[in-house]
Amino acid sequence: MKILITAGPTVEAIDPVRYFTNKSTGKMGFALAQAALDAGHDVILITGPVSFEAPPGIKRIDVKSAQEMHQAVMSEVDQADVFIAAAAVADYRPKEVLTHKFKKSDGNWHIEMVRNPDILFEVGQLENKPFSVGFAAETENMMENAKAKLKRKNCDMIASNDVSSREIGFGSAYNALNVIWPEGQAEIGKATKEDVAKTLITLIKERYAHRST
Ligand code: PMT
Repeated sequence: MKILITAGPTVEAIDPVRYFTNKSTGKMGFALAQAALDAGHDVILITGPVSFEAPPGIKRIDVKSAQEMHQAVMSEVDQADVFIAAAAVADYRPKEVLTHKFKKSDGNWHIEMVRNPDILFEVGQLENKPFSVGFAAETENMMENAKAKLKRKNCDMIASNDVSSREIGFGSAYNALNVIWPEGQAEIGKATKEDVAKTLITLIKERYAHRST
């Protein structure tokens, strides 16, 4: 299979020295890329700014903002059998990016935020969409929210992680996933992100084969 994966955070510029971002390190997305490569698949990895090296054999595309990630995904997605959205994409960006450093004054600073494109949602609307796997970073009502995301974003699978726990999820070496698809579900218990990634890639391959028959 040709697998397109997003990883890491996006950064949304405010002015030349400031930006909004989140706590994603890219570890989960890079572990998925490695597991997919090890399983013999072709991998394209689109990543926000992270400190990991991609293994040789992977096509890596570096981006910064959600808009750049959106553009990169849309230009690569045609070739993909499977799309895995592990990136923590910023939902909002500042409406205006200042060209000069904002100078502090006595008053407060209000920044207007506008919506970013929802990449996973847009991939779900494509006529020849790949088998789409979304992640859901949840702090409550995990199952309910994951089911809603599966439907709203027209995904084939959603892997949700409880990001309220400091032991798994953002930045941790470990993760644990509740995986759902329209006809079923599976739990991947707490393990290193490398092991979680291997199990998820195997599950995706099984469900992809099921969809293709
Ligand atoms: O990078 P690590 O430190 O290893 O941490 C891993 C992780 C916690 C970031 C990862 O496991 C994870 O949960 N990634 C998805 C985080 C997220 O943005 O979840 P969400 O519930 O806000 O978004 C749902 C899905 O829509 C995700 O697949 C996301 O990639 C996608 N999305 C969201 C917003 C947007 N504008 N475009 C998108 O494609």
